[in-house]
Parts: sequence; structure tokens; C-alpha cells
Amino acid sequence: MSEPNFRKPVRKAVFPVAGLGTRFLPATKAIPKELLPVVDRPLIQYAVDEAREAGIEEFVFVTGRGKTAIVEHFDTAYELEATMTGRGKSLDVLDPTRIEPGNLVTVRQQVPLGLGHAVWCARAVVGNEPFAIFLPDELMYGSPGCMAQMIEAYNEVGGNFVSVLEVPMEEVSSYGVIAPGESKGSLTEVKGLVEKPKAAEAPSNKIVSGRYILQPEIMDLLASQGKGAGGEIQLTDSMAKLIGQQPFHAVTFNGRRFDCGSKVGFVEATLAIALDRDDMGGEVREMAKKMLG
Ligand code: G1P
Repeated sequence: MSEPNFRKPVRKAVFPVAGLGTRFLPATKAIPKELLPVVDRPLIQYAVDEAREAGIEEFVFVTGRGKTAIVEHFDTAYELEATMTGRGKSLDVLDPTRIEPGNLVTVRQQVPLGLGHAVWCARAVVGNEPFAIFLPDELMYGSPGCMAQMIEAYNEVGGNFVSVLEVPMEEVSSYGVIAPGESKGSLTEVKGLVEKPKAAEAPSNKIVSGRYILQPEIMDLLASQGKGAGGEIQLTDSMAKLIGQQPFHAVTFNGRRFDCGSKVGFVEATLAIALDRDDMGGEVREMAKKMLG
């Protein structure tokens, strides 16, 4: 059960990673989309780093067939480590891939019924605690990270949270959209939520950008959630039912967001992060300038 003030610490995070990644075929035929590298880190690593920075201790991956390599990525690679050590090479580069023994849990989503269904698949591991959700396609880049910014707000007001950002009105129909109430700084009250509305019917241009903090009661709502937009069981529809029962806020992320679910977004993330890196930014800038004439 939630505490009356809905401020129990957020220790667990759910990563829905069962998707087929068809938009990136043939790259994703044998490799999970979440392992495609942005510079030299797989996409999922950015989300796990962001979670860790926000204090997340337990990592719950909702996987499916063909996704085992994601779990391998966060495991010990004995032969690799022994060989590198034998050659006198540092293993520091592997540090972000180490998750405490017992703190990585996988559950399977056997059939792709939607994001709401994927999250519900994690109910036994989540139990009666508030938890975070990370959609790894959304690469949130900044310091402090998006979830750390959300946790800061959570510690003040408690309840349920989504991250939001503004997009041109013609793009809202691809996303969950909030009906905003009062705002104070980066914090906005959420008065309503709708999944993939037509632009003309959207309550705002503030879209849900793939980070959530939810109270455990969402799981009961998901259990009986019917199909919504696109014929899928939508997380947004169950979240909408929490509004009015529990506090619900949105945090506008102070940082940059890259939509790595699209190819152009993926290229944009790669270029932006490469330009920002101390070890290669200068060289990449020169290369890009030359390329663009
Ligand atoms: C999902 C959510 C949507 C959210 C989006 C962010 O949609 O259902 O509310 O805005 O992620 O990327 P999907 O991209 O799975 O269609």
C-alpha cells in the first residue's frame, strides 16, 4: 500500500524492452534495438545510468524472445575480463555494465499487447512500492538526469509523475499528452492524460516523454485496463484513472531529449553526444564541418 503522503523511496525501475524494433531492420534482426550503440554505449546503458544516478537499486527488464543479449550486457563477461586483465588493460570501461548481484530481474512479456501490459508484467517484482519506468528509446541527456530531476520533485510533493516536453502541435498525435493545471517552475499539475489524441482534440502540446514515477495502485488499474489507442493496452489510460485519487504531476526536463525510436533522432543523438564528448568532440566537429562543406 502507498503511504498516505505517497513519498515512499523509489528503489525499483521497470524497463520495457520487449519491442521488436522493426523500424531499425535489418540492424535489429539479431540484435535488440536497445543494444544499438550511440557512440560507444548501447542505448539501454544511457537509461540504466540515468536510473542509477537517481538512486534506483533494482532493475526490472520486461523482455521477450530474442532479447537475451540485453541481460548478457549487464552480466559478468568472464573470458573478456580475464583476457583484458591478462593483457594489463583496465576494466573501468565495463563499470557501468555492473549491476549488483540479485538486482537485475527479468520478466517476459509473451505477447506485444502494449506498454500498459508490459508494465503490468512486472507487477510481482514491483510489489507494493512506488517505482520508476524508463522507455529507453527516449534518450534524456543532461545533468542532473531527467529521473534525478523527477525524484527531486517527488521528494517534495510525492505521488505520481511523468516527464513532459513541448512539441509542435502537429506532432502530438504520436504521444501521450497531458492536460496541464497550475505550474510552478518545472513542476506542472496533471489534470488529464490522453494517449495519441488528434491535434485538434489534444489538451496541450506537452507530451509524455518516456519517464514515469508511479504508485503501486497503477498495477490494479492495469489488470483490468481495456484496449485503447492503436488497439493496445495503454499505460496512459490507467494513469488517467489515478488523477483525482492521488497527486499527479509533470516535470519539464531541463536538458535535451533525443527520440531514438526514429532513425533521424538516432543520428541526432549520436552526433550531439559525439560533439559533446571531451575525448572526440573537437575531431567530430572538424569532420562534420568538412562533410557539410
Ligand atoms: C509511448 C507512450 C506515450 C509516450 C511515448 C514516449 O508511446 O504510450 O504516451 O508519449 O511512449 O515515447 P509509443 O512510443 O510506444 O507509441
